[in-house]
Amino acid sequence: MSVISTKSAIGSFFDKEVAEHVRELEEIKERAEDSFYSSRIQRRVDGSINDMEKKCEALEESLAGENPEELKEAKKEFRDRIKPYFDQSFFMKRGKEKPKGYPGDYVTLEGIYNSEGSINSAPSSTGIGLYLDSHFLNSRLARAIINRKNVVRSFIEEELNARGGELSVLNIASGSAREWAELLGNGKGLENVDLTCLDLDKDALDACKYTVGRKGSAGPEINLLQENVVKLALKYDRNPEEVEDKLGKHDLIYSVGLYDYVNDKFLEKILNMQSGLVKEEGKMLLAFKDRSNYNPTKYDWCEDWQFVPRTGEDSRGVIEQIGVKGENSRTFYEPSGTIVFFEFLNNDYE
Ligand SMILES: C[S@@+](CC[C@H](N)C(=O)[O-])C[C@H]1O[C@@H](n2cnc3c(N)ncnc32)[C@H](O)[C@@H]1O
Repeated sequence: MSVISTKSAIGSFFDKEVAEHVRELEEIKERAEDSFYSSRIQRRVDGSINDMEKKCEALEESLAGENPEELKEAKKEFRDRIKPYFDQSFFMKRGKEKPKGYPGDYVTLEGIYNSEGSINSAPSSTGIGLYLDSHFLNSRLARAIINRKNVVRSFIEEELNARGGELSVLNIASGSAREWAELLGNGKGLENVDLTCLDLDKDALDACKYTVGRKGSAGPEINLLQENVVKLALKYDRNPEEVEDKLGKHDLIYSVGLYDYVNDKFLEKILNMQSGLVKEEGKMLLAFKDRSNYNPTKYDWCEDWQFVPRTGEDSRGVIEQIGVKGENSRTFYEPSGTIVFFEFLNNDYE
């Protein structure tokens, strides 16, 4: 498609589709302001966003990868048009503004976890923002993220039971380590657990300290490391002993929520480091979003939030690059089928 026809396709998209969406949002905003929470309004919000997502997707497909700069500008313009409404939503605004410099920080994740079991939970938004929060929280991906945390919690619990409560763990990109806070809250004795939480974000680690690292409780021995795992992995390539001294060797090394943002080249380095830090008979657990099972369009257009688009097979391909043999390995999905897990015993490595 020529630049001129791209411009005209985008122009008509804004004149018709986006204008209609904004009119709808404006009307919903007015209604939302002077009524109690209404499931009818929620259906209207959900319907309007889902329709708009299809139109965004159709425009993107029609441009077929040509004139990417024009498309990038169009997405930015789109966000500006919906801003008066979407900025009323805690989740939509935070996703777009990225106060930590990247989407999906621990505050967003905690907000998603806090919505578990409560329909239409919205932490702080009002008016149309409440409906948009609810739309975000009830999306397939947000539900899958809650399931992911629960899968990890059960996995750890099984490991603890199998090892008589003694476990040394490295949690890479730990965020607030919510799964550990829940284990502790459920009365699981973690006194013989040695837990290292590694994250870039000091605030996330402070949250770990508060929820998991309380002295005098049945909590684990906790070690907080504010580090960039990509830099550590590059260092591991040159000087494995130095990194091993810093991170130690562990019975379980896991990471959930980070690898969807890391390109293959760096991911291979991280996985290589991880596999070198697993003890004999230790395990590694990795989670990836499977792009065949969710639609990233809404996140991209409304919040400028992108993931490295990998299918389950793509993720397995990266893992195999580091020499994982796959015997005694297990691949499984969380209940919504959106996030895939890979579990390996350390004798699976070549
Ligand atoms: C989506 S959150 C997942 C947090 C947690 N694992 C969970 O599932 O709730 C991703 C986390 O990765 C951290 N992170 C992002 N880039 C990182 C890097 N290069 N090194 C270490 N941590 C990083 C962020 O600070 C954030 O806490």
